[in-house]
Amino acid sequence: MKLSLENRKVAVTGAGDGIGRALALAFADAGARVAGCARSTDRLESLSNETQGEGHLFIPADVKRKEDIERFSGQVAEEFGGLDVLVNNVGAIGKLATFDALDDADWQEAFEVNLLSTVRFSRAFIPVLKKSTAPVIINISSIAASRPGEVFPHYCAMKAGMSALSSSLATTLAGDGIRVNTVSPGPVWSRSWDMEARQAAQAAGKTEAAMADEIRSGTAATVPLKRMGLPEDVTGIVLFLASGHASWITGANFVVDGGVLRQPY
Ligand SMILES: NC(=O)c1ccc[n+]([C@@H]2O[C@H](COP(=O)([O-])OP(=O)(O)OC[C@H]3O[C@@H](n4cnc5c(N)ncnc54)[C@H](OP(=O)(O)O)[C@@H]3O)[C@@H](O)[C@H]2O)c1
Repeated sequence: MKLSLENRKVAVTGAGDGIGRALALAFADAGARVAGCARSTDRLESLSNETQGEGHLFIPADVKRKEDIERFSGQVAEEFGGLDVLVNNVGAIGKLATFDALDDADWQEAFEVNLLSTVRFSRAFIPVLKKSTAPVIINISSIAASRPGEVFPHYCAMKAGMSALSSSLATTLAGDGIRVNTVSPGPVWSRSWDMEARQAAQAAGKTEAAMADEIRSGTAATVPLKRMGLPEDVTGIVLFLASGHASWITGANFVVDGGVLRQPY
């Protein structure tokens, strides 16, 4: 199946690491022109050096700041002369804690990074997407939206909000031909898991490497396919949704989790 993403103009938020980085590289490999943002200029530079093709745009931005989102969106729209695909990927757990240890600031940060950023990027790019011949929004949520656990309830709640927003926008934007879908990954080893390993290693008096191995194998044991995901495991479905092969798919949620949820319908 040929995805035909050549020359599509794609924006990926939170592109410096993990799933966002894998998405930026995969879209560029498929011939798309990619714009990405993150806070770390070093990571964006390293991404830029690895990205195939010409004309990409990697811009430092903090998605907690409205003006950074507006600057990124404005620059992308102007330099690309439009946009075809918006991937709202940026997200972070923030404080790894249960409800009793989370204060208003933790909830506010989770809201700004995970949900309000999606609102703001969508608001900024929708007028631009409306001019595309095949516009698409893909929101990277989480299985934590439908299966919240005891830890990080703030993140689970924001991801549930993002998934609901995605579904609502699919209705609002259908008349404009903008398809809006959600992709919900399960456990994918990334920087947030490194941070979890670091914190747990300190608490347990173990090395970070030993704790990372413990967490990786413990988590893999809960996954029917017996391994944690890699960022690259998420790229296939996102590129498919961005392509013309998905032209009759909107308002849907796609779970990529090695079989953790196994919801039959
Ligand atoms: N990994 C998993 O197990 C998992 C599971 C389900 C869903 N997800 C979702 O998948 C998405 C990607 O997760 P990931 O694990 O790949 O993340 P990651 O490796 O931690 O990367 C997150 C990216 O977002 C950027 N970012 C974080 N805060 C930002 C901010 N305030 N402003 C701008 N950029 C910011 C980071 O760069 P800087 O720090 O340089 O800004 C980084 O490039 C997230 O929405 C996450 O919730 C992940």
